[in-house]
Amino acid sequence: MKGVILAGGSGTRLHPLTRITNKHLLPVYDRPMVTYAIEALVRCGITELMLVTGGTHAGEFFRLLGNGHEYGIDRLFYAYQERPGGIAEALGLTERFVDGDRVVVMLADNVVERSLLPAVEHFLAQEDGARILLSPVEEAEHLRHLGVPELDGGGRVTRILEKPDDPPSTFAVTGIYFYPAQVFEVIPTLRPSGRGELEITDVNNWFVSKGRMEYDVLEGFWGDAGESIDAYYAVNDFVRAHGVNREA
Ligand code: TTP
Repeated sequence: MKGVILAGGSGTRLHPLTRITNKHLLPVYDRPMVTYAIEALVRCGITELMLVTGGTHAGEFFRLLGNGHEYGIDRLFYAYQERPGGIAEALGLTERFVDGDRVVVMLADNVVERSLLPAVEHFLAQEDGARILLSPVEEAEHLRHLGVPELDGGGRVTRILEKPDDPPSTFAVTGIYFYPAQVFEVIPTLRPSGRGELEITDVNNWFVSKGRMEYDVLEGFWGDAGESIDAYYAVNDFVRAHGVNREA
């Protein structure tokens, strides 16, 4: 299975910090944010990775990561996204790298406390389709800013709503997604959303509509360090106090 780390975008919610650097190069406790997502995948044995980034600071990722060996990456590839056209657009750039294989995609601003290995194993054991990771979120106000799944009680996702006024469950869709190679046939069928982006929620809802979306609920802490400056500091505080990417 291949791994993709998405580190493009504009990071406007962390302005003005992200006017002078790429969000995923900002420190989280004692090292740049992107290294946590890399560690999460490498610790699951995913060592063939492509990093997608964009903007004026793309070169800094070379300086930080080089050929990736220091981070346990066997083969590290890079792609450049010309403009922040959305998470699904960024994923589309990795088609030739993934080359018909399965892929796990992780947004480089997501930080997880516990190993992703159980979810990786569940995905590898599933015959077909995609898989998302959910994290429990109690506060309705917080859920209104996230992707929220509607669940049918029988272990199925019936749809995913982006920033719902009336959240249909108390789970957030995290930025960790598992796809079969077919995802690259879905992306070209997408239309840009109101904000002009190709939305990963549309990709996920395509798999939901075909009855081919599975999920796991993540145990432990999950943080999106790009959500707000307060979320950024909450992630920093958690990492400093407890550490993350704990081995399974
Ligand atoms: P978002 O948080 O949706 O977008 P953003 O990072 O541009 O931030 P903001 O909304 O504050 O302007 O994206 C989540 C992650 O997805 C982001 O950390 C990196 C990745 N991404 C890309 O790689 N390319 C893109 O075009 C976008 C929009 C996001």
